[in-house]
Amino acid sequence: MLREKLERLRSELSSRISAIKELEELEKIRVQFLGKKGVITMLMRSMNELPAAEKPLLGKLLNEVKQSAASEIEEKKIELQEQLRQRQQEAERIDVTLPGKVFNPGRRHPITLVMEEIEEIFGCMGFQIGEGPDVELDYYNFEALNMPEEHPARDMQDSFYIDKEILLRTHTSPVQIRTMEKMAPELPVRIIAPGKVYRRDDDITHSPMFHQVEGLVVDRGISLADLKGTLLLFAREMFGRERQIRLRPSFFPFTEPSAEVDISCIICNGQGCRTCGESGWLEILGAGMVHPRVLEVCGYDPELVSGFAFGMGVERIAMLKYGIDDIRLFYTNDLRMLRQ
Ligand code: DAH
Repeated sequence: MLREKLERLRSELSSRISAIKELEELEKIRVQFLGKKGVITMLMRSMNELPAAEKPLLGKLLNEVKQSAASEIEEKKIELQEQLRQRQQEAERIDVTLPGKVFNPGRRHPITLVMEEIEEIFGCMGFQIGEGPDVELDYYNFEALNMPEEHPARDMQDSFYIDKEILLRTHTSPVQIRTMEKMAPELPVRIIAPGKVYRRDDDITHSPMFHQVEGLVVDRGISLADLKGTLLLFAREMFGRERQIRLRPSFFPFTEPSAEVDISCIICNGQGCRTCGESGWLEILGAGMVHPRVLEVCGYDPELVSGFAFGMGVERIAMLKYGIDDIRLFYTNDLRMLRQ
């Protein structure tokens, strides 16, 4: 009876071991049968209780069962370890035929590109970068620039007010005042001030937020010729060697005389086309000689020094340079446009 039981145990164990797929499972079986309290171990202990006549035979048989179980478990263990090693190797193998990961690098916005180009050009001419806050005092945005309250020129720059004295700056010109105030009476002042400006405007060529670059030079003996030479060099660096510029008389409260500055059309080279409205010229900035009152307010003596200033719209320049006809394309984050 016991003998049959042992034989069954041996074959059952053998088939269970061969069906095992995981090492942990194998270890469970080992503990269950061969461990300190395992089935086989217990059986060996109970041998003593058998009648003496049966002992040798059954003892031998049980020993065999134990031996074969142990060696089958050992073999299985080696087999499973080998399988595991292979699986790990397989998982780590580099498949050179897999398609690569597509990596989308970001790139700089066209407005940033144009601002950097402007900074580069003026940087080469010895200009430094000036800065001022976007949230500006009425004093710097208007008053010190010769635009007292009720001045009609304020109407052209409808503003966003924080309160009566504080507003979002409508142009970068207040940086002129801040820079001169800080530097006076030091000479020369030679800065450009790139930055964001805000106006209550919104159509295909106007955005409530846009960018300007202001320029300011103050020194002894600065003349309109210096302004013209500087802007001509800029126009040629920015838009091509063959550019011409033209100054048309205009009015700004903080410059005297004042001018609108045009470049010869970059599309038709001055022949007249749709882009320049058949005139051959494109307006790109406002400029002039710094008004004596402005110099004075900032601590410079207009009898001793003079200066020129200019202000350009970055979007306008970017639109001309890249042939973009709707300013809103700069701000709607359409990647199809930004990638070009
Ligand atoms: N601040 C003017 C505007 O936004 C542009 C301008 C005109 C700036 C003449 C200047 C200047 O520095 O001299 O319309």
